[in-house]
Formats: sequence, structure tokens, C-alpha cells
Amino acid sequence: MAPRVLVVGGGGREHALVRTLLRSPQSPEVLAAPGNAGIAADGVECLPDQDLVSLAGERAVDLVVVGPEAPLVAGLVDGLAAAGTAAFGPSGAAARIEGSKAYAKELMKRCGVPTAAHAVFRDREEAAAHLACASYPAVLKADVLAAGKGVIIAADEREARAALDVFFGERRFGETQVVLEEFLEGEELSLLALCDGERAVPLAPAQDYKRIFDGDEGPNTGGMGSYSPVPGFDVARAREIAAVAHQPIVDELRAQGTPFHGVLYAGLMMTAAGPKVLEYNARFGDPETQAVLPRLRSDLLELLEASTRPGGLAGIEPEWSPDWAVTVVLASRGYPDSSSSGDRISGLDEVEDVEVFHAATARDGADFVTAGGRVLNVTALGSSPGEARDRAYAAVERIDFDGRQVRGDIAARAVDRVEA
Ligand code: AMP
Ligand code: GLY
Repeated sequence: MAPRVLVVGGGGREHALVRTLLRSPQSPEVLAAPGNAGIAADGVECLPDQDLVSLAGERAVDLVVVGPEAPLVAGLVDGLAAAGTAAFGPSGAAARIEGSKAYAKELMKRCGVPTAAHAVFRDREEAAAHLACASYPAVLKADVLAAGKGVIIAADEREARAALDVFFGERRFGETQVVLEEFLEGEELSLLALCDGERAVPLAPAQDYKRIFDGDEGPNTGGMGSYSPVPGFDVARAREIAAVAHQPIVDELRAQGTPFHGVLYAGLMMTAAGPKVLEYNARFGDPETQAVLPRLRSDLLELLEASTRPGGLAGIEPEWSPDWAVTVVLASRGYPDSSSSGDRISGLDEVEDVEVFHAATARDGADFVTAGGRVLNVTALGSSPGEARDRAYAAVERIDFDGRQVRGDIAARAVDRVEA
């Protein structure tokens, strides 16, 4: 019988997971909770908000694939395991590596993973006392899940004091400690690895664009575009980095009795002194997944299922298309500070040669309308970064809605590198 898979989440990442699962030779039946309008348009049953452990039991789901961090940190995988349902993703204890930056830093220190020097402050007085002797620019981070937005880079002491107002005065991210970090310079790389509790198997490297405006200007977002692979990072190099950034963490968490299963995502800075880890996430990246999965030639379902079993990835090596993938995010007016909803999206029927992954869309009769900050992702493949980039932007130009925000420089760096 065809396996039944439930994908939890409703963003562009989950749409990419759903599409890739639908390509599996095992012909799974795929359900989504809550899913989104684009996932539903692919013929996938989308289930409204409800108790997911009961739902998985009632629908006899064979594998639950958890996309977002919040349910992981809240222990959804533990609840499913207790009910006898297999789930892809870490336990709540292992997901803490994303849930608390202070914990992640402590873990990195213990395992000897290269990372920026840091200090943790519980209150404003303690933090303020350190600002005079900090070196600038400095990085200040809220110690909570903040969808990529809880990081402030302060150019000088005055800006650092203003950041303390945001964290401790305004409490924009709620009650939280603050991590102060050394600013690292270099190029960023997202390296995601599948983990089976014992081993980290890297996926194809990707680059993410975190800032809202071209040229990496403006505030941080959840991610405005991505591409894969990354020039200079072949499979051998990805393995070398995973040996330094991922495997020590997998070993430590196993030794602690909280083995990591699922995707361990390392956000890295390639500094003059070598790769350093900026942060870990306990899940697939968004929008990295939208660029990485269209290049996957192996059966995603098999990889995910193997990750749930201790040592299940032994002998498994994901295979990749040599094509380049470029993903451009279309965001709504006001993002990332706010977002707008209900704007009619035109042109979706006119695009070809690309995959359009929905993130925040809704139906208004026959039309799709915007329903949040990051609305759509357009991914194109090509035999060169230039070809993939041109295809992606040709499609993006056809899709429109009121207030649409798009970065114009996604993958431009890869094009320059490869064509230079
Ligand atoms: P994080 O959520 O910790 O990955 O931080 C979000 C973004 O802030 C990163 O992708 C970087 O662009 C930037 N960032 C975080 N930490 C540092 C650091 N120590 N040095 C320079 N930039 C950083
Ligand atoms: N693209 C950044 C993230 O998924 O956290």
C-alpha cells in the first residue's frame, strides 16, 4: 500500500517538500496541515489546525514531516513518538539548538565548533555595562525563536544601546536574554545535513539572501531568495564542513541522550580564518529548500524515513542534478515589519519552465490573493547560474500583485563567479 505522509506547516518550504514527496517512486499519499492554497491546488488534502498527534493516528499516517521550528521546539515529535507515529524532525530536547541561541553557543563551545566569541546577558544593566568595552560592529540577538528577525547589528555603542531598548525596553521579542556576539566578516553559506542520531549527511550547499533590499541593505527577513549549488563548495568541501560544523554536535547530542534526528541546518560565515557557525536551525531552511530540493535526484521519502531510525542513513548518499537552481521570493507590501493580504495575484498561469511554490496565498474564488509577508517563491533550473537566474526573473516579471517586493540581485554573485 502506498505510504501516507503528513507534512506539517504551510509555507514555501512545505510546498517544496510536498512537491518533492509527490515525485517519490513510492507514490505516497500526501496530506498537509495546515498547508496552503498552492499545496491544495496540487491536489493535496489540507487539514485545518487541530491536534496533530490525534490527526496522525486517526488518519493512519506512516510518516509525519515537520517543517517549521515552533512545533519541533514544542515537542511535537516527542508526542508523535509516544503515540507510535514515526516523524521526521528532532525531539524537543534536540531542537533546543534552534530554540535557544545561548544553549547553541554553549554546545558549540563544548564541542569545539568554530563560532564567534559571545556573552549572554539576562538584563539591561548587565548588558549595558559591557557595551563600553565591546568591539564594533557588534551583533545582538534575542534568545528566542524570532523567524530570523531577532538579530541587530550595531555599528557602534550608541546603536548597541538602542538595541537594548528594543530587547529589554520595548520587549519586542518578549521576555528574553540577549546574546552579544563578535561580528564576523565573510560570505554566508547554508549547509543543511540530514541526521539519523549518529551521522550527519550534508545536502547540497545553498546561499540565502537575508536582507530585504538589493545589495544586502535594509532589515533582516526570513529570506528573500536563494540558490544552489554555491561556487567553490562541491560535495567534498560540503563533507569537510559538515565534519567540523555538524558531526561534533550530532556526537555530543547522542552522548547526552538527546540524539538529533532530522535536518541540522548550519548558517555559516566563511571568514578569513575558515568557516564559523553563526547559528543552527533544527529544520529545513526557507527559502533554501525551494532551491535545494528541485535538484534532488534521490527519493526524498526514503531519505526522510531513514533519518528517523538510529543509524538509518548508513550507506545512503543523496544524488543531485548538476543543474543550478535559483529561487526568488515575492513578498508583500510592508514586509518584514508588516505584511498585506487580499491583493489579487496575476500572471500565475502565464509562467513556464519554473516551479512556483506558494507561501502565503489564499483563494478568492478562482483567483489567488496574498495572505502574508512572503507570498510566493519562483524556482528555475538551468545548466548555468545565469540561465537559471534569467529563467527565474523572466517568470517573476510575469507575476504581479499590488505592493510586490522582489530583490533584483538573487544569484548575481554566483553568475559573476562562474562566468568570471
Ligand atoms: P542568525 O539568526 O543568528 O543566523 O542571524 C541572522 C543573520 O544575522 C545571519 O544570517 C547573518 O547575516 C547575521 N549575523 C548573525 N550573527 C552574526 C555575526 N556574528 N557576525 C556577522 N553577522 C551575523
Ligand atoms: N533562510 C533562513 C532560515 O530558514 O532560517
